[in-house]
Amino acid sequence: MCDQRSPPGLAGTSHTMRRRTRNLLGALVLAVVATGVSAATTLRDAAEGLVPMGAALNLGYLTSDATYNSTAAAQYSLLTAENECKWSATEPSQGVFTFDDCDALWHFAQANGMWFRGHNLCWGSYNPAWLEALTPDEKRDALVDHVATVAARYDANVLAWDVVNEAISDSATGADPALKNSTWYPDVPDFVDVAFQTAREACPTCKLFYNDYSIASSQGWSSDKSDAVYALVSDMLARGIPIDGVGFQLHIAVDYGLVDGVAANMARLAALGLEVHVTELDVACGSAPDHDCTWTDAIAEAQADLYGQLLEACLDQPACTNFETWGFTDKYSWLDAQDGSPQHPLPFDEDYVTKDAFDTMVGVLEAAQEAHRPAA
Ligand code: XIL
Repeated sequence: MCDQRSPPGLAGTSHTMRRRTRNLLGALVLAVVATGVSAATTLRDAAEGLVPMGAALNLGYLTSDATYNSTAAAQYSLLTAENECKWSATEPSQGVFTFDDCDALWHFAQANGMWFRGHNLCWGSYNPAWLEALTPDEKRDALVDHVATVAARYDANVLAWDVVNEAISDSATGADPALKNSTWYPDVPDFVDVAFQTAREACPTCKLFYNDYSIASSQGWSSDKSDAVYALVSDMLARGIPIDGVGFQLHIAVDYGLVDGVAANMARLAALGLEVHVTELDVACGSAPDHDCTWTDAIAEAQADLYGQLLEACLDQPACTNFETWGFTDKYSWLDAQDGSPQHPLPFDEDYVTKDAFDTMVGVLEAAQEAHRPAA
């Protein structure tokens, strides 16, 4: 059962308590950022009552690096397991479930008054070899068994599960919301429906999310794939397939110019009655494809602006109920391996010193708090 919705210390951070910020925010942000922020301010304190501030955490670093551990606990009100709850970690052999590492992340959240965001129940990548080797019918049975078992295990403090991760093709459009070839497609053509229906049965009160990359903006270069996801979830809703929200991964770079499109996309998903989570935000240094660049003050500022603008877009949209980065310190980012060079993508540097991105986000949060304080 998933019946507890308010972790200790987070009573004021329920998404039902989210408050609108609207246009007043922009002017106030500039004033607050200009005057600087208190060194002792934490993201979770600054965001109290507004939105959970999340980070993907890694059990290896939590146990080996005391500063990583204490910074995560102090700064964030939500965590996602970076890898520990994925299929390879939780069912490495068929029918043999190993929950020690995923449990450890869940317990860390519980112990520190943080929400837990489950990631993920069904993904077409990074799956164990045994799963890839099954026949289509066996895969379908394995999907039901896995989703039912994992979704039923975690109850208290679960804000949401990414039920299906990255199913839509990069060349899909609204007119053709094609699924990408993967572990699941075309072998199990209705795997998205099966995963969501099974998750709902296993945990009736869990929020169920579809999560993907390059789907945040309904304008610009990502509009086709964003339209495809909009078509996918609209169709699910029309057919009565249970879904509560869409996760925008937002693995972006400092040249990302689509924040208005992100706000517009949040608004149209909200109009369907769905929530939106920012799930995996990081802002790489430099431009695609290799993001090769030298870290400068100007890039730090451009990165900070993006963090601030995206946080404002989330705070301005009542349906945006989580704001989360993929990691939190430049000491450990998946992007460095991905791109082959240091990307400096996160709000804390490699020595856990707060960056401009951190200051700007605290400024945005303080302005939002100020905008909603009752007049004296
Ligand atoms: C990444 C992890 O950060 C890496 O450590 C791992 O090797 C691969 O997966 N989209 C997702 C995340 O949904 O699960 C991915 O995490 C990053 C991209």
